[in-house]
Amino acid sequence: MEEKWKHASTGCLRRWVANVAFGTLLAISLQSGTKLFAQVIQVEHQVPAPFTNRGAIQHKVDDLLKVMTTEEKIGQLNQVFFFAPSSSIDERIRKGELGSILFTTDPAQINRMQRIAVNESPHHIPLLIGFDVVHGLRTIFPVPIAMAASWDPSVEENAQRIAASEARAVGVDWTFAPMVDIARDARWGRIVEGAGEDPFLGSAMARAQVRGFQGEHLDAPDHLIACVKHFAGYGAAEGGRDYDDANVSDAQMWNVYLAPFHAAVDAGVQTVMSAYVDLNDVPATGNHWLLHDVLRDTWGFKGFVVSDADAVKGLKVHGFTRDLPDAALRAFDAGVNMEMAVGSTAYSTGIIEAVRAGQIPGRALDDAVRPILETKAAMGLFEHPFVEESRVESITRDPAHLEAARIAAEKSSVLLRNEGGLLPLRAEAYKRIAVIGAFAESRADLLGSWSLGANPSDTVTIAEGIRRKLGSGISVETAPGVQLERKFPSPFDMLSKAPKDPKWSDAQAKEEFERAIKTANSADLVVVTLGELQSMSGEAASVSSLQLAGNQEELLEAAVATGKPVVLVLINGRPLDIRWALEHSPAILEAWFPGTQGGPAIANLLFGGATPGGKLPFTWPRDAGQEPLYYAHNTTHSPATQSKRYWNQESTPLLPFGYGLSYAKFSISNLRIDKAEIKKDEMVKVSADVENLSDVSGDEVAQLYIHQQSGSASRPVRELKGFERIRLKPHEKKTVQFSVGKDELSYWASSIHNWVLDSAIFDAWVGEDSTASLHGTFTVAP
Ligand code: BGC
Repeated sequence: MEEKWKHASTGCLRRWVANVAFGTLLAISLQSGTKLFAQVIQVEHQVPAPFTNRGAIQHKVDDLLKVMTTEEKIGQLNQVFFFAPSSSIDERIRKGELGSILFTTDPAQINRMQRIAVNESPHHIPLLIGFDVVHGLRTIFPVPIAMAASWDPSVEENAQRIAASEARAVGVDWTFAPMVDIARDARWGRIVEGAGEDPFLGSAMARAQVRGFQGEHLDAPDHLIACVKHFAGYGAAEGGRDYDDANVSDAQMWNVYLAPFHAAVDAGVQTVMSAYVDLNDVPATGNHWLLHDVLRDTWGFKGFVVSDADAVKGLKVHGFTRDLPDAALRAFDAGVNMEMAVGSTAYSTGIIEAVRAGQIPGRALDDAVRPILETKAAMGLFEHPFVEESRVESITRDPAHLEAARIAAEKSSVLLRNEGGLLPLRAEAYKRIAVIGAFAESRADLLGSWSLGANPSDTVTIAEGIRRKLGSGISVETAPGVQLERKFPSPFDMLSKAPKDPKWSDAQAKEEFERAIKTANSADLVVVTLGELQSMSGEAASVSSLQLAGNQEELLEAAVATGKPVVLVLINGRPLDIRWALEHSPAILEAWFPGTQGGPAIANLLFGGATPGGKLPFTWPRDAGQEPLYYAHNTTHSPATQSKRYWNQESTPLLPFGYGLSYAKFSISNLRIDKAEIKKDEMVKVSADVENLSDVSGDEVAQLYIHQQSGSASRPVRELKGFERIRLKPHEKKTVQFSVGKDELSYWASSIHNWVLDSAIFDAWVGEDSTASLHGTFTVAP
């Protein structure tokens, strides 16, 4: 805990110092012009530089910039998709017209293209090879929302370290992750890709991922560079509709949406991806305030910015720029170094026009190219551009990776209900088990979105996991019962490796449903698997309703009606409408998209080989009509009627943020606050005792929430400001302690357009979720 907290604390402290410094300097600079720039540079030096031997790297890059032509420099600013070998891509590499390629994980193709770059291009500059290594390359870990549900950054860090080693083994040296967009509306499909609704939890997960991907130094051969995305505000897309615009106040930007990005920058992330979103009428990819004032001037970011795919072209689509060359110029001026292009030619044609017209001075071009070349040099790509193809199999098929993936899936699952202690199941009590629902035997769906580098046949299904766990004496029968489909196909379907089953006729659908219920009837335990297909969650996968797709709920109802014990396992990337299930299904395990080892993990969890200990990283709504819904809303005009905002149903969540059960039972008591009053530069320590009251071991996540009673702005009813996942043996008791100081207590206040730490009375709660009742107060003195 101490160590983890220290990370959080120093990051926040640095941010605070930098922002306060910047705020003060802004005032000075308004009177004295250029002073600001010199001072801001000083602030920048506080950001860690993960380069070994920065001086030599800078020399090398300066030398290159002296000899490169304008066209070659512009080439470094271009990245294109590779779907199949193409002579036109080869030719562009040969001429030095491409700095980066994305979307292949084929080591032979990567080596082939690197050979052209290194041996045949004018200055022998290697390519950066990018890919969305979001939650694993070949070994797929649980999706990011699940990893956040572990509330254990060390699990996330380890997963991304393994993902990095597999990616680097095939020649991928740049991942487009972590995705740190705060999502407070579950209709938005991309909620699955991030850490949920909370900036504090999101920041901890962001830091862990950057550390896992990048390691200590950029030249480590088994690490790659990370790219924090999508900068910024994309998660606030109106109506949860992917790609729609976002209108976010400056206080919400600073306090909520920007926080995890800042954490990633503080952790040394080397690249940033600009978002598709039109943010407050200024599209993020042409947004000078975001990409320059915030990212570089305020936070001191030293790496480079890549656009999202065709987002530069999107500036014209948004009606923000006149034409494509104008889009290139404005994205460049805003701070986008590299264009990721699917079909766009904005940078490849527009930048040269702007240089010739004198709109981009040579120096500005060099400044845009420099961090890209520095990154390549810092990674050692000039010396080691190739991969050893013979080592790929042993690295990507390492059994230790599978073991880590299973543990991560166990740690990220959340127990939502366990009526009468049905779970863990006693294997000896059952002879015949029915596993029904669309996910009983599915492989690709267990992997979730962004698992394009995986081989779905590696996945161990839920039914296989149970069979392996229980051995041959117990029969495990399966039947899908339902067939799910999207109303509008996903644009990603063409890339998916999921088998495309023929659509069932109406008669077949009826027959399959009945077969599943017959299977359930002849068993003495029914495991029902419900949720979302891989393509129902992720990019371009928003929904207007959170209801279970197809006739899944009917399947559950029919299974419960058999009178057999029913365990519901959810496979999904967002909260779904499970109101009926929560009342009628005695046990519910939220398994998310659990990855390659989903089956063994779920079997272990159901049969007591592992104890669920995850907690929800979002507020679980009753239905979509409540969205956006999040716990950290402000205190409203009528708190007493907070649960009755609608006349037709309760307005409280179905399940609160931070919620999750265990097979063990815990109590949290004895809150201590070491000082009744602190000065603004002091820390207060909040501690409590966590006790396991049961006869089984288990994990509890102790959570600290605070609330500021008055101040320069109205503040959320509660905000998470500390957490620790601890393991407790039967009847063991441990003390958790959280330190709270200016990093946790200061915030951006709209009233003064700056960061502030008010003197005020603060409430503090420690407990098992965001409804914790163990309470104390402390005061920050003037
Ligand atoms: C997504 C990004 C992704 C990129 C490259 C875009 O459509 O928004 O998150 O990194 O594609 O695959």
